[in-house]
Amino acid sequence: MSFPDDRPRRLRRTPAIRRLVQEVRLAPQDLILPCFVAEAPAQRREVPTMPGVYQETVDSLPAIAEEAVRLGLGGMILFGVPARKDALGSSAWDDEGIVQRALRRLRSEMGDELVILTDTCLDEYTDHGHCGALTVTGEVDNDVTLELYAKAAVSQAAAGSDVIAPSGMMDGQVGAIRSALDEGGYSQTPILAYSAKFASSFYGPFRDAADCAPSFGDRQGYQMGAANRREAMRELELDLLEGADMLMVKPALAYLDIVRDARERFDLPLGCYSVSGEYAMLKAASAAGAFELRAAVLESHLSMRRAGADFILSYFATDIGRWLREDLR
Ligand code: PBG
Repeated sequence: MSFPDDRPRRLRRTPAIRRLVQEVRLAPQDLILPCFVAEAPAQRREVPTMPGVYQETVDSLPAIAEEAVRLGLGGMILFGVPARKDALGSSAWDDEGIVQRALRRLRSEMGDELVILTDTCLDEYTDHGHCGALTVTGEVDNDVTLELYAKAAVSQAAAGSDVIAPSGMMDGQVGAIRSALDEGGYSQTPILAYSAKFASSFYGPFRDAADCAPSFGDRQGYQMGAANRREAMRELELDLLEGADMLMVKPALAYLDIVRDARERFDLPLGCYSVSGEYAMLKAASAAGAFELRAAVLESHLSMRRAGADFILSYFATDIGRWLREDLR
């Protein structure tokens, strides 16, 4: 033995030894695929800033879900892009709304084979693009918004959502949704809380994909500031106390310290969301020849698991599922 220590190197000698001593792994069931479903136009349409990601239609979505089942993915989360927007975002709780229709279609074709989550928020549905109803002075009205989230959540649960995922960062949203689900007869529908959601530039492409950029101002009045680590723990704790079944940190790559802190502090299932900007960066850099896409994507997602996330919402979910399958051959 040479000093100080040559044991680490011995354990890196062959791929098989390296695999044996690997501490965390990525598996298809750890991944949840975000999907956009648009009411119009009739054809699926690629999102310009997210090559390879589409606004799907009710008719094109089942094929995406079938592939997710074939690959053994953990689930998919739906975002609606409605044809009609108004000040309150009323199509979010319309039982004939785009997400509700997509849910019923997926349920009738796939049963319970895939966990189908729904994002519960209003920014895709409001004509001003904010995540809630506005006061006369143009601020988001937290308490009025809670009632609207509750209606949207119940409507999604009724249409077959397996998990309600509130993403608007209103105070009290988890508690309000939990009570409404219980009263509506959906006490068995769990809540995945976007608990520590930071106001982030990395959501840029999503606003393009879901057609929901705020028409004025920004979201810093309700989403968290990038500097605040202790506050993130407070947000997670509040959601736990309000009845969240699972917790989430978002974005992922720039916030892995928050994921680690959350893992050490809370025992609930913990997710992180590798957001649209993370996808766009990896795609653009690999297209420019900076690195090979597959290796960079696997490395970054493995780092999210290492930080402590049980599951990852990622636009690369299907790609990773395919790559992992190839690796098994
Ligand atoms: C809000 C919501 C957003 C994202 C998920 N849910 C947008 C925002 O807060 O601005 C962003 C996801 C991504 O960037 O991939 N409904």
